[in-house]
Amino acid sequence: MRVVVANDHGAVDLAKKVLAHLDEIGVEYTYLGVGEEKSVDYPDKAREAVEEYRKGGYDRGILMCGTGIGISLAANKMKGIRCALPQDIYATEKTREHNDANFMALGGRVEYKDDVLKMVDAFLTVPFSGDERHMRRIEKLMALEGK
Ligand code: RB5
Repeated sequence: MRVVVANDHGAVDLAKKVLAHLDEIGVEYTYLGVGEEKSVDYPDKAREAVEEYRKGGYDRGILMCGTGIGISLAANKMKGIRCALPQDIYATEKTREHNDANFMALGGRVEYKDDVLKMVDAFLTVPFSGDERHMRRIEKLMALEGK
C-alpha cells in the first residue's frame, strides 16, 4: 500500500496526525505538504498530488484542506480521479465498496463524529465490491468526464 498525501494550510495539524498514523500502521507515503501554516492554494495541492499519483506505484491519495471540499472538487476535475469526501466511517466504507474511490478528502477544521484515523483505515483497507452494478455506475460516472 502506497499513498500520496497533500494538504493546504487549513489542515496542517490533521495532516500531521494522518502521517503519524500511516507511519504507525506501516503504510508508505509521499508527502507533498504543506507542513506549516503557510497559505497555499488547495487546487495547487490537489494537482500536485494527482500528478504524483499518476507517476504510478500508488494505491490511493489522501487530500486535506479546511473543509475537504475545495481540495476534493479540484481533484475531481482531473481525469481518472474519484475523490470521496466521506463524513464518517460508514460513508468511507461505502465509497470504497461502491465508488472504488481512489482519493479521499478530509477537513482539518471539520468535527467528525467518528475517529478520522478510523476513516483513513477504512479508506485504505476496504476493497471495491466488484459488483456488476457498481462497475456499471462507475463506468457511467467516468463517462461524464469532460462533459
Ligand atoms: C482555506 O482557508 C480554505 O478555504 C480551504 O482550506 C478549504 O476549506 C477550501 O475548501
